[in-house]
Amino acid sequence: MELKNLSNNKQKSDYTVHKIVLVICLTITLSTVVMLKITAALVKERSVSKFITIESRLEPFGKVNMPGTGTVKSVAAINSIEKSETIAKVYTGSDVYNMACTACHTAGIAGSPKLTDTLNWEPRITQDIDTLRAHAINGYTGLAGYMPPKGGRLDLSDTDINNAIDYMLAQIQQ
Ligand code: HEC
Repeated sequence: MELKNLSNNKQKSDYTVHKIVLVICLTITLSTVVMLKITAALVKERSVSKFITIESRLEPFGKVNMPGTGTVKSVAAINSIEKSETIAKVYTGSDVYNMACTACHTAGIAGSPKLTDTLNWEPRITQDIDTLRAHAINGYTGLAGYMPPKGGRLDLSDTDINNAIDYMLAQIQQ
């Protein structure tokens, strides 16, 4: 009777040990599965983002717009873009004179020959026209004073200045 009881007790404790081991095994399995899932998700996310950054780093600087790919604007759309106003504007001789020369030459300021002073202009006109143009474009210091290059308007083109000289000469000869 004693012996039977003893063996019964042993069986009971064996059973408990088995239960504990089983629970531990289950817990380990479960947590392993969960950890694997999390790791897999992390690896997937990282590799995708890595792939994106590597791809964007390897991209060439420019992109070629191929016709028919939708990136190219239609001719009508391109034509509708307003033309830039900065495209070289052509001024008439009188425009340039009124912008850059009138300050001195209308009233004869700083020793400049007045536009109406035909006598003053005579000797100047008798020198060749290229010298006259060069003096106005590059600047000139004569006996009367200092004529600044392009009348101080260096943004104007040589053609603009030449147009202004033509305008001035036409006024003088009247
Ligand atoms: C700051 C005043 C000033 C302005 C602005 C000016 N000039 Fe003159 N210009 C003079 C003076 C002064 C002389 C005379 C220099 C001399 O003979 O001693 C002169 C002389 C000239 C002559 C005669 C040059 C020669 O060989 O005798 C021409 C041509 C001329 N200017 C053109 C122009 C034109 C074109 C402009 C405008 C783009 C202009 N000037 C603007 C002061 C000016």
